[in-house]
Amino acid sequence: MANELVPQRRLYTGALMPAIGLGTFGSDHATPPEVAAAVKGAILAGYRHLDCASVYGNEDCIGAALEGVFSLGIRREDLWVTSKVWNDRHGDVIASCRKSLADLRLEYLDMYLVHWPFPNFHPPGCSVDARSPDARPYIHEDFMKTWRSMERLVELGLARHIGTSNMTVPKLKLVLRDAAVKPAVNEMELHPHFQQPALFDFVRANGVEPIGYCPIGSPGRPERDRTPADTVDIEDPVIVEIARRRAIHPAEVCLKWAVQRGQTPIPFSTNPRNYLANLRCVTTDPLTEAEMRAIAAIDRNCRLIKGQVFLWKENQSWEDLWDPDGEIKA
Ligand SMILES: NC(=O)c1ccc[n+]([C@@H]2O[C@H](COP(=O)([O-])OP(=O)(O)OC[C@H]3O[C@@H](n4cnc5c(N)ncnc54)[C@H](OP(=O)(O)O)[C@@H]3O)[C@@H](O)[C@H]2O)c1
Repeated sequence: MANELVPQRRLYTGALMPAIGLGTFGSDHATPPEVAAAVKGAILAGYRHLDCASVYGNEDCIGAALEGVFSLGIRREDLWVTSKVWNDRHGDVIASCRKSLADLRLEYLDMYLVHWPFPNFHPPGCSVDARSPDARPYIHEDFMKTWRSMERLVELGLARHIGTSNMTVPKLKLVLRDAAVKPAVNEMELHPHFQQPALFDFVRANGVEPIGYCPIGSPGRPERDRTPADTVDIEDPVIVEIARRRAIHPAEVCLKWAVQRGQTPIPFSTNPRNYLANLRCVTTDPLTEAEMRAIAAIDRNCRLIKGQVFLWKENQSWEDLWDPDGEIKA
């Protein structure tokens, strides 16, 4: 598919970022070689934006796939590659970025994010009940030390832009106040049942582009990341009815809505039929205003990625991580 058709977002720096990317978190269901094969296939199909992270454990395989597509004539400057520093490397941002670059076999990243604003280590794949003895609340001074190293990455030319992920309005207010280099994006959970209107409006009003993760509602996430209260976007009657009328999969309705609303979804798929459909659907047959309004009305405030492993004291609830009263919990 001609990638010129893919909508773009203009960041506050003037740079253009494709308004849909490929997620690369294989979790329990896709091995690093499977994700790398999807990366290669997706780029050849027209994707130009990849959402990577060191913690996904597959950047070296993705690097080999990138080498493959470059040998076929895709140029580095045609791609938008994001990676992220994991929670146990907040004190070691530059080394962590260099490691991702070495694994991805790139000279620079287009975007580097602080994956979570909490610094504690927990093993990949651990239970949501696991607690780290080192867990701490958000401490702004500590975050800004990490952010200074992020800013240094821009000076060093290792990252063209820097950004945040899993932030809240009160935390971002402080970062925007104190940053020398403002975050260009905030990566956040966004899907029809979790629209986060206050945070979405706040970041856009401040010139920070929202990147939407779990844009389809992460139907393949492992059992340990599910709770009985979770709802299923692609089974919502409004989404299902729009999909039926248009003879498309409900996943595509979620993605059309995301791009038209103004966020940049990063759907994951290793299935060529699905990742191609996901790219194509955001370039054709936009949703009507009535359909957009109908989806706006089905928000359930249903957060799927709750972050329980970051809780830092007894008897806390995961909501405390997300500053529900507009104040940072200590
Ligand atoms: N910053 C953060 O903290 C954070 C947190 C979570 C996720 N992320 C990023 O966001 C990305 C996406 O999130 P996610 O993987 O959890 O969830 P998602 O993109 O909402 O859902 C992916 C699932 O949907 C299926 N799917 C994709 N397209 C489909 C289609 N057209 N029809 C039917 N099924 C379809 C995929 O299966 P198939 O493979 O079979 O197509 C896969 O199981 C991640 O890969 C990662 O890059 C970031």
